[in-house]
Amino acid sequence: MIQPVIFAGGSGLRLWPLSTETHPKQFLPLAGGESSLLQLTLERLQPLNVLAPLLVTREDYRFQVAEVARCAGYGDARVLLEPVSLSTAPAVALAALACTESADDPVLLVLPSDQTITDVAGFARSVEHGRRLAESGRLVTFGVTPDRAAIEYGYIRPGQAVWDGWDVAEFVEKPPVEQAQALIDQGCYWNSGMFMFRASVLLDALQQHCPDVLECCTNAMQSLEQDLYFLRPVGTSLEGCPAISLDKAVMEKTDRASMVLLDSPWSDLGSWHSLWASGPQDEAANTTVGPAVLHRVRESCVVAQTRPVVCVGVEHLVVADTPEAVLVTSRDQASDVPELLERIKPLQ
Ligand code: GDD
Ligand code: MG
Repeated sequence: MIQPVIFAGGSGLRLWPLSTETHPKQFLPLAGGESSLLQLTLERLQPLNVLAPLLVTREDYRFQVAEVARCAGYGDARVLLEPVSLSTAPAVALAALACTESADDPVLLVLPSDQTITDVAGFARSVEHGRRLAESGRLVTFGVTPDRAAIEYGYIRPGQAVWDGWDVAEFVEKPPVEQAQALIDQGCYWNSGMFMFRASVLLDALQQHCPDVLECCTNAMQSLEQDLYFLRPVGTSLEGCPAISLDKAVMEKTDRASMVLLDSPWSDLGSWHSLWASGPQDEAANTTVGPAVLHRVRESCVVAQTRPVVCVGVEHLVVADTPEAVLVTSRDQASDVPELLERIKPLQ
């Protein structure tokens, strides 16, 4: 059986002030419609034959996460509470350790909760392809055909074809734009951020490529408190554990990775650029959310959450008016915003 592991602990600050520390993107209905991204992620699992999901998150998101799981039909989901959020390598290490305690080396299906995947049947087919490779001991990634030289994604160079996928010849996490373009020209794919592997295979890879993460997480999991469906590692603290992503810690280094294609339209809703690019756009390529009036405006993203927003004669902007704050930035510099948030705190 497949054990879904869902990352739901990021704070999504690249989308500030739409996504905030208290209401991060996974709890927002950013794909249109009423459902949050986390709820859509869980609902996508329903056609698959999987175990109750394990959600990995922070202590302060635990009730929101449990409530979303219940609404998606997974009242039996377990919620693993990280002592501290340190990126995805420690998060997946804790999850794999929790799963080897409760089941017999399951295949983990690791899913982020900040994406839209519109073809649910295609997603299920890709998982089926990935499962075969994962069961044979591979670390499986799901590739997406790129449409621009994005610097916020990982890139996968496919090697030899095996079953319904390929060996991964090279994995490059978030390259600079020139390298991203060169990788695309050479036929590379984007890493969708979803993974499949046996728990034991992931733990072996962590032992080989970043033993510090594995050691800290193993110590933290030495004692596990269970309170309803909440699991709390209460061994040693995670102080000293490297804060590193799974992509950097393992995927860039391993020679046991495989890729299958994700058989669905896909978008990551992690940044202002991707929110703009994936939203329904008007004829001047503007994406709007809420009551906005645009006149001679091009290629902009406008969010009006508290009152109407009017924009005239501007282009390539992000304008977001939310209960938290007002943001006005050129779209191509929006990625600088998280660095400025420390300066905003004293003003609040
Ligand atoms: N539980 C937990 N703890 N979840 C976390 C943590 C953490 O410390 N950090 C991040 N997450 C969650 C986020 O909420 C998101 O759902 C997922 O893990 C991935 O983290 P991101 O921070 O959004 O990663 P990314 O978008 O920069 O990069 C990843 O995804 C890209 C595709 O969207 C990488 O895998 C890239 O290679 C990939 O291209
Ligand atoms: Mg992301």
